[in-house]
This record gives sequence, structure tokens and C-alpha cells, in this order.
Amino acid sequence: MHEWLRLPIAAADDVARSVVDDLELLESGALDRHDFEVPAIVIGDSRSVLQGFPSSIVQTTVTSPPYWSLRDYDIEGQIGLESSLDLYIENLVAVFEQVRRVTRDDGTLWLNVGDSYTSGGRTWRAPDRKNPVRAMDVRPPTPSGLKAKDLIGVPWRLAFALQAAGWYLRADVVWNKPNCQPESVKDRPTRSHEYVFLFSKNERYRYDHTAVRGPNDRNVRTVWDINTQAYRDAHFATFPPALVEPCITLSTRQGDLVLDPFLGSGTTGLAAMTLQRRFVGVELNREYVDIAERRLRIAASAA
Ligand SMILES: C[S@@+](CC[C@H](N)C(=O)[O-])C[C@H]1O[C@@H](n2cnc3c(N)ncnc32)[C@H](O)[C@@H]1O
Repeated sequence: MHEWLRLPIAAADDVARSVVDDLELLESGALDRHDFEVPAIVIGDSRSVLQGFPSSIVQTTVTSPPYWSLRDYDIEGQIGLESSLDLYIENLVAVFEQVRRVTRDDGTLWLNVGDSYTSGGRTWRAPDRKNPVRAMDVRPPTPSGLKAKDLIGVPWRLAFALQAAGWYLRADVVWNKPNCQPESVKDRPTRSHEYVFLFSKNERYRYDHTAVRGPNDRNVRTVWDINTQAYRDAHFATFPPALVEPCITLSTRQGDLVLDPFLGSGTTGLAAMTLQRRFVGVELNREYVDIAERRLRIAASAA
């Protein structure tokens, strides 16, 4: 059994009933979706945790899985340190197959994932003085078919794998970072963007194009300029609330359930709470759960 944390969001919240009970009641039809009281955090490996969730309860998922071979989160069962790229993609496809099952028929997935370069035969990453969190002990071998110094194209490889698994790939949003990290490179441009893919479970899905508008009341475009924002307690990449909020606003209504299977410091939970959506997050590392819990409790008490 996984450990659940239930975060009281209001004094009236019935904290006595556990989220597990809620999920069971929900599955048996005895509980209406709108009575499902969250936010909640489940501590465990999202590969197995999600298997315990009932089908078709989540309206949207906004998440950023660990990038391949970029960072050691220092915990057994972590995704991202697989010896091959294929295995990494396979593991993520397995998680997102569960995400697809728990997603409502008109639901969506917003997926942010970063890219990396092949190591060129090195088996460790040199400490990067300008970006210390990037230093780590191991680096996997160069994937077959690639050469030293190749950009791997991880986001697109994952997007194609999810498309093949059944998701509809609907948009590739470019998250442009005006304040991107400097890089000590002299033979290519400094990388200043990441992708956020929008997937849907079916051909038709909830997406309210009037809920967020671009300049001059235009439809939102695919390049979003948003500064990165480090969360002081986290030793890893967190995405800024400003990146998550439009995703949630465009694809859910108040009261809908939002999921993040790789919770980290809890940014998606924070955005969901701010926008009065229900939320459930999954995180493997207890230390990060503590950070997310603290962050969500502060937001709850300020509300
Ligand atoms: C890129 S971080 C997410 C950051 C998050 N978006 C934020 O804003 O803080 C990825 C997270 O996935 C977690 N993780 C790695 N493998 C996992 C697994 N198998 N199940 C659940 N969480 C996992 C890591 O511990 C890390 O916190």
C-alpha cells in the first residue's frame, strides 16, 4: 500500500475520509466525481501507483518527467537513469498508458520534457560551474545510431512513442526562456527553449480557446515566453507556475481533477489550487514530497 498525504484545503474539508476510500467509492459509483476531495499526494513509483486509480477520472495532466541522463534524483526506482534511451522511453510510455486510462474521454495531457546531448564516450558529466545541479556521476552510453555530440531529440522521440501508443499529438508548444541558463559552448547556439506537448485521449476533447487569449485577443500561439523560476528548496528543475496555469485553464473547468505523476516540488498542484481545480500528485522521493507538501500548505493557508 502506498502512503497518501491529504492536504486540508479548507477548514470544512472532511480530512477523516482517506483519498483511497474516495477512489474506491468513486470506482463503485457511490461517490460523485465532484465529491472527490483533494489535493492529495501519493508517495510511490507512478508506474505502480497509477494502477490503483480508477479509470476516466482525470480531466488533464500537466507534468514534467525526469529528463534522460541529466540528473540523479538519488532514489531507487527513479526514471531517467536507464542504461538505454529505448528503456527510458519504454518506462515513460508505461506511465503515460496508465495516465491515458485514468484520463476522462474528453481529457488531455500537457507534457514538458527536456533534451540532452550524447556524451561522446565520456561516462560522467563534468561539473558545470554555471549550472551545478547538472553535475552527476554516471552517463549512459551513446544510443545506437547516434554519434558523439548529437542532440538526442528526446522530446520528439517520446512524443512519437506516445502517438504510436494511442495519444493524439495536438500541439508542440515552445517554452521560450528569455532568462535561460548560459552555456559554455562555442560551436552551437545556446539552448533557450523546451517543448510542452499537448496530447488528447480522443479526437474531440475539452479545450476552451476563449479561456486564455494572446495579445490583441488572438488565439494563443505555440511560442510562450516565460522566465524560468527556481524554487529555492528544490535541487532540480521546477517549471514555473506561469507555464502550468494556461494549460490547466485551457483544458479544465473549476472542480475538475488535475494530475501530476511526477510531482517534484508541487508546481502543478499549486497552479491547480490557485485555479480551484482538484489535484492529485505522485512523487517517489520523500524529500521532494516534503517540499511539495510545505508549498501547498502555505498556499492553502494563504487562500
Ligand atoms: C523534473 S522533476 C518534476 C519537477 C516538477 N515539475 C516541479 O515543478 O517541481 C521529476 C520528478 O520525478 C520524480 N520521479 C522520478 N522517478 C519517478 C517515479 N518512478 N515515480 C514518481 N516520481 C518519480 C523525481 O523524484 C522528480 O521529483
